[in-house]
Amino acid sequence: MEASVTDTQVGIIGAGPAGLVLSYLLHLEGIDAVVLEARSREYVEKRVRAGVCEQPTVELLREIGVGERMAAEGLPHHGLSLRFDGADHRIDLTALTGKAITVYGQQEIVKDLIAAHAGKGLPIEFEVSDVELHDLDTESPRVTYRDAEGNARELDCAVIAGCDGFHGVSRPSIPGVELIAYDHQYPFAWLGVLARTPPSHEELIYTHHERGFALHSMRSPEITRLYLQVDPAERIENWSDDRIWAELEQRLETKEGFSLREGPVLEKSITPMRSFVVEPMRYGRLFLAGDAAHIVPPTGAKGMNLAIADVRNLSRALKALLRDKDGELAASYSDRCLRRVWRAEHFSWYMTSMLHTDPNADAFQRRLQLSQLRYTASSTAAATSLAENYVGLPFE
Ligand code: FAD
Ligand code: PHB
Repeated sequence: MEASVTDTQVGIIGAGPAGLVLSYLLHLEGIDAVVLEARSREYVEKRVRAGVCEQPTVELLREIGVGERMAAEGLPHHGLSLRFDGADHRIDLTALTGKAITVYGQQEIVKDLIAAHAGKGLPIEFEVSDVELHDLDTESPRVTYRDAEGNARELDCAVIAGCDGFHGVSRPSIPGVELIAYDHQYPFAWLGVLARTPPSHEELIYTHHERGFALHSMRSPEITRLYLQVDPAERIENWSDDRIWAELEQRLETKEGFSLREGPVLEKSITPMRSFVVEPMRYGRLFLAGDAAHIVPPTGAKGMNLAIADVRNLSRALKALLRDKDGELAASYSDRCLRRVWRAEHFSWYMTSMLHTDPNADAFQRRLQLSQLRYTASSTAAATSLAENYVGLPFE
C-alpha cells in the first residue's frame, strides 16, 4: 500500500529535550514541524536522566513560556561540594560567577514541553518505527516510517533535524566519508540510583574516594539521586540495594561523620561513560543536534544543556533559511555549535578525570590527581574556572 504523505517544513526525529525544544522554538517563529518519537509518551516522561540545568537553559525555558513549573518546583543551588580527603570543599558558584544552577529532572522538562505541545495542538507522533531518512542532499528530504498502528507514512520536509540521541538513525544516515568521529572511552561507568528519601545534604556532593567516585544529588525534598562509579562490565543484578547503600556509606564518609539517609530504591541502572563528537553536525538538509552529534560523560552535567544550546542555534538558522531565505546561519550552524561542544567536552573530561579513580593510573598519576583537587578547592582562580563552566558559559 502507498504511504500516506504529510508535508511539513521541519521533520524532527526524537522527542528528547533537543527535539521538543526545537519544535517549540520553531512554532514560536511560525515554522511548522512534526516530531517523530520511537517510544511512548509515558516512557519518555518517566525516563530518569539529567538533573542539573545551567542558568542559560533555565532562562531559555522561562523565555519561551515553559519554565513555570521549573520556577515553582526546581531547586536553585548556589554551590556544590568537592568531597575528598574525608572533608567537604565547597565551591561557591554564585560568589564566583554571580550565577546559579537549578536542579530539576530532565523528565520534568520533557513533561512540561509535551504538555505545552498538547496545549497548542503541535504534532508529536509517539511509537513510530522503521524510521528512514531519504534525499538528504536535496532541498526536499523525506522521512518514511510506520505510525503507532503500523501504517506506512511519509513526511516531506524542507529540513530534517536529527534529535534522536546517540543510538538514533539520523547520524548513521550520513555517508561515513562525510563525517569525522572523535571517540574516547573511559574505564568506568555510573550506577545511578533514585531513592525515596530526603537528600542528606542541601547541595550536590562530588566525591573522590579510593574505592571510586560517588555523587549525591537530588530531585526534590523527598527524592535523592545518587551515583557510584563502577566497572563498565558490572551488571546491575550484582548490586542489591543493601550493597549499594553500604558502598555509598563508605565512599561518602567524612572525618566529621556524615549521615547518609537511606530509603526505598525506586530505580537503578548502569550507564557507560564516553566522550564522542562528530564533525560537521550537518549533511545537506539534515542537521544533527544534542546526543545525536555528541556525548559527554555526565560528571560535568552538560549533556542536556548542550542539546538545548544546539537547538537554540538551530532554530535561528532555520528561521533565517526557511522564512528569510538566508542560508548563512545554516552554513555556520555546525561551527558555532562545535565551539560550545568542545568546551563542554573538555570540562566534562576534566571533571571526570579529576574525580574518578582510574584502575589503570599509577601512583604518580594518583598524586597529580589529588594535587589538582586540592588546588581547585583552595585557589580562587581554579575554583572560578570550574564554576563558570559548571553554571554554563553565555550563549554567544
Ligand atoms: P535524548 O534525550 O536521548 O532523546 C532522543 C530521543 O530520540 C529519545 O526520546 C529516543 O527515544 C528517540 N529516538 C531514538 N531513535 C529514534 C528513532 N529511530 N526514531 C524516532 N525517535 C528515536 N545532562 C545534563 O545536562 N545534566 C545532567 O545532570 C546529566 N546527567 C545525566 C545522567 C545520566 C545517568 C545520563 C545517562 C545522562 C545525563 N545527562 C545529563 C545527559 C542528558 O540526559 C542527555 O545529554 C540528553 O538526554 C540529550 O538530549 P537529546 O534530546 O539530544 O537526546
Ligand atoms: C543528577 O542529578 O542526575 C546529576 C547531577 C549532576 C551530574 C550528573 C547527574 O553531574
